[in-house]
Amino acid sequence: MPDRIVCPEQNDDEARMEETLRPATLDDFIGQNQVKTMLRIAIEAALRRRDVLDHVLLSGPPGLGKTTLAHIIANELGVSLKLTSGPVLDKKAALAGCLTELQRGQILFIDEVHRLNRLVEECLYPAMEDFKIEVVIGGEGAYANTVNLPLEPFTLVGATTRSGMLTGPLRDRFGVVCRLGYYNNDDIFAIVKRSARILSVTTDEEGAWEIARRSRRTPRVANRLLRRVRDYAEVRADGNINRDVAREGLQMLEVDEVGLESLDRLILSAIIEKFDGGPVGLKSLAVAVGEDVETIEEVYEPFLIQEGFMHRTPQGRVVTERGYAHMGHKPKERDERTLF
Ligand SMILES: Nc1ncnc2c1ncn2[C@@H]1O[C@H](COP(=O)(O)OP(=O)(O)O)[C@@H](O)[C@H]1O
Ligand SMILES: [Mg+2]
Repeated sequence: MPDRIVCPEQNDDEARMEETLRPATLDDFIGQNQVKTMLRIAIEAALRRRDVLDHVLLSGPPGLGKTTLAHIIANELGVSLKLTSGPVLDKKAALAGCLTELQRGQILFIDEVHRLNRLVEECLYPAMEDFKIEVVIGGEGAYANTVNLPLEPFTLVGATTRSGMLTGPLRDRFGVVCRLGYYNNDDIFAIVKRSARILSVTTDEEGAWEIARRSRRTPRVANRLLRRVRDYAEVRADGNINRDVAREGLQMLEVDEVGLESLDRLILSAIIEKFDGGPVGLKSLAVAVGEDVETIEEVYEPFLIQEGFMHRTPQGRVVTERGYAHMGHKPKERDERTLF
């Protein structure tokens, strides 16, 4: 079984590498120009008015730079960032603890903000809107008392891979909403070269391009492939990454010409072979490939859909003609062929 390339879980080693490779300023952050412009203006305006930056929502598939941008925002504002996440903030008290510790202008970064539970989320509304939080003091039951505790004005930066799962009231409370899309290959190429420079990996233009174009348009994947290919280059070649070494290394990793890895291909072949091309429900698909529903939905499927290998219909997932062709199958005859 080859090393998983796109799997969201990370080991310590990878987390350390991400730290090393994380750009610290907006200028250093490659691509996503619209998002950068929006943030630049909001940050600059807040700084000029000596005001606290509006709450920011960053959404998009894993590995596109949401956490990186949260740190960059703090850095550009010259404030510190407190990091937590939806699942960690499971009680009102945990949220209150976080919020009351914040100083004026500081950033509270809540990763996976769509996974906050309802009670905690509702506590967040007055905190975001009026900088106050309701806390229970005194005894229990009839003796309990709630008071409104004022908070220092702060900026909430929320990140989510599932903006569709955010409730309306929460989404409405973010003044700056940034949607990160997949990168173009030129930007990924620039990211591969930047990372190679920082990690002192020698790669020529063609080697870097080979890695870039198979990185699912995702910086995290690009950095991961670069590292794996570097290992390969050191063990099987002279340590330099050129086109051939990159191709061989990527082949060993079972990353194909268009950047699909084994589980992507398993998903496509399962739909084609076990479900006659679909439509198939996500749950049945997950069982067929032995992966959990969330991982398929958040990590694998968005890229397969974006690249036109797969389609989402109200009845379920279907493989497109491109998907059939990529897997070396003859497309299924369909009446609704024009759909694709
Ligand atoms: N625009 C970019 N330019 C350079 N490196 C980037 C960029 N976006 C992301 N990265 C790198 O990709 C990795 C994953 O980014 P991260 O912010 O953790 O993604 P997310 O939080 O969206 O899952 C990090 O190591 C980061 O340095
Ligand atoms: Mg993140």
